[in-house]
Amino acid sequence: MEKLGFFDLNKIYQGDSVELLKKIPDNSIDLIFADPPYNLQLNGELYRPNQTKVDAVNDEWDKFSSLEEYDKFTYSWLKECFRILKDSGSIWVIGTYHNIFRVGYIMQNIGFWILNDIIWIKTNPMPNFKGTRFNNAHETLIWATKSKKSKYTFHYHSMKVFNDDLQMRSDWVIPICQGDERIKVNGKKAHSTQKPAELLYRIIISTTNPNDIVVDPFSGSGTTAAVAKRLGRRFIAFDKEEFYVQVSTERVNKITPISNHLLEYKVNKRKPKVSFGNLIEKGWIKIGEYLYSKDQKNKALVIADSSIDSNGLIGSIHKVSAQILKKESNNGWTYWYVLRNNKLISIDDLRYEYEKKYLNKNDNDKNLFEATENTNVVKEPNINFLNYERNNEIQ
Ligand SMILES: C[S@@+](CC[C@H](N)C(=O)[O-])C[C@H]1O[C@@H](n2cnc3c(N)ncnc32)[C@H](O)[C@@H]1O
Repeated sequence: MEKLGFFDLNKIYQGDSVELLKKIPDNSIDLIFADPPYNLQLNGELYRPNQTKVDAVNDEWDKFSSLEEYDKFTYSWLKECFRILKDSGSIWVIGTYHNIFRVGYIMQNIGFWILNDIIWIKTNPMPNFKGTRFNNAHETLIWATKSKKSKYTFHYHSMKVFNDDLQMRSDWVIPICQGDERIKVNGKKAHSTQKPAELLYRIIISTTNPNDIVVDPFSGSGTTAAVAKRLGRRFIAFDKEEFYVQVSTERVNKITPISNHLLEYKVNKRKPKVSFGNLIEKGWIKIGEYLYSKDQKNKALVIADSSIDSNGLIGSIHKVSAQILKKESNNGWTYWYVLRNNKLISIDDLRYEYEKKYLNKNDNDKNLFEATENTNVVKEPNINFLNYERNNEIQ
């Protein structure tokens, strides 16, 4: 069982979230999704015009004696979230007009940097039965990082593809959770505010990477944990009600994760600014050694001027691979491999590792990893095969 400090990963814990959050180590979490109590302040029961009772949120967990008490509670869990979030992490908090403005104010006071507020437009909202106000047809999600300088994950290009090649907007049209998706126990809704899986799917797919750790301090029916598991992310979730912990654990146990190769982000992966010559200069690729195609049917000798020679075809890694494949052009980075400890290693992986080691500038420089709205942060491959010395070229 994988652990993070006190906790086993991929588990839903029963208890008060403020107390449990305190047991998570500093700067250890990639994503927090929080759907806290709204403090709806409903007075009495609500009936439809035909006198049937409305199944409104009237749960004990949503009740606070005053706005001050709600603010105090909000401050205490958000402060812990700030502490546990990695500098590169981000937090999402969902709420309604009852609480979201107070939550946003407190988040800014703590130091969070708001990136967007997303409006979840409900296609099928509950009507305003009394006819005294506009139909309340949306909820608001605040997306924030720990500071203005945070190098957060955002798969901008993937989200554009998701949205039929149009930049994804901040208004998301999604139905409320209903039908088969709604978790039921003995035919009754298990939880009054189960969020649609689509919401969590968009959040997790856009702002985390596979294997990242996601925390949900108010897990309820376990929507966050279920979607995180399906998308190959790790999670820790809390709820103070034993019943919800049981129901959500059963829900999560039934989820089968999507296989890793389908989770890889391939759209517009940013390429490191490392040339083939840079790898030779550093001795990471040796002059006089061979590059191999993946099936090892073709090989090319590395020459001192950074060209390669494959049976008399001479040129750059790109040109020679294109000639071998009888194509106009080809990406030599993904065609060629080197042998390290009898294993083929992609030279593309080598250049990512080179960038990580030598081009990861400090905060005062323009950082190549800094995610702007038009880039995404690419996790570097974790490869430990570079422990051979510089200047060991075969002469
Ligand atoms: C709005 S619901 C979350 C619903 C969830 N997002 C879902 O999709 O099912 C809030 C949840 O927070 C839990 N809760 C309220 N106060 C809590 C606290 N102090 N610590 C832990 N859980 C709490 C409630 O039991 C409730 O299940």
